[in-house]
Amino acid sequence: MLKFAVIGHPVAHSLSPAIHAANFRALGIDATYEAFDFAPEALSSGVARLVLEGYAGFNVTVPHKQAMINLVMLDESAARYLAVNTVKVGSGGMMRGYNTDVAGFLDDLEANGFDVPGKQVLVMGAGGAGSAVARGCLEAGALDVTIANRTPRDGMLPLGSELCRKIAENVDLVVNATSVGLRPDDPAPIEAKFSAKQVVYDLAPVKWTTAIVKAARESGAKALTGHGMLVRQAARAFEIWTGKKADVAAMFAAVHEFKV
Ligand code: ATR
Repeated sequence: MLKFAVIGHPVAHSLSPAIHAANFRALGIDATYEAFDFAPEALSSGVARLVLEGYAGFNVTVPHKQAMINLVMLDESAARYLAVNTVKVGSGGMMRGYNTDVAGFLDDLEANGFDVPGKQVLVMGAGGAGSAVARGCLEAGALDVTIANRTPRDGMLPLGSELCRKIAENVDLVVNATSVGLRPDDPAPIEAKFSAKQVVYDLAPVKWTTAIVKAARESGAKALTGHGMLVRQAARAFEIWTGKKADVAAMFAAVHEFKV
């Protein structure tokens, strides 16, 4: 039997165990997928234990994606985005880290009929997720990518500015990579009037309709949520671990009740 896991802090809310279990069931694979809460100071000992106990791979979620860089050999994707969300444990316990988040995000855009090449993109939030997604869009051929942040460091566009609102109303794709929306009563990170030709992608896979998704839908824009990215990064992680294609439909069915 193969053993997999997700590690994070906290991790109890993670949808990954349900997504992977659904895929294993659909493919008839004898495997388990558990969630382990490792505090930051217990990260390296926790990871060492997973290797000793014979786990074949694991996912890494907040807040460990950056810290994992120091504990594993980096695949090109992890080196590029400086974040590890998938680890494969090879023979002799050698760990290789990958980033499937960005590819999962791009896969989901493609699956929803959005072609990144030539498009104008606004990414709100310059943390780990925002920077990686912005870079991913540029590398996928976006015409331009603007990053806006609450704290306008490195000459970034201030999130609350009038210019930011104008850009948000005119680009092809608006991505929310801030933490605003992670609580049910959060406002939208920006007050903007979207239009029907736009796509608004809220990265957080939360169980409620965020204010920005609501605003996008009311304006006729297409709104996508982080559930799609979550499923597609999981599919890629499974493919890295096993070399087999994941059953993406079964994975989506597992998050259906959480998808708004
Ligand atoms: P992640 O790994 O999910 O990207 P992170 O690196 O902690 O998480 O980044 C969180 C992002 O949300 C940052 O861009 C942060 O902006 P600051 O750099 O100004 O802190 C943004 N953020 C958090 N709370 C916010 C708020 N109330 N309004 C706007 N942006 C917020």
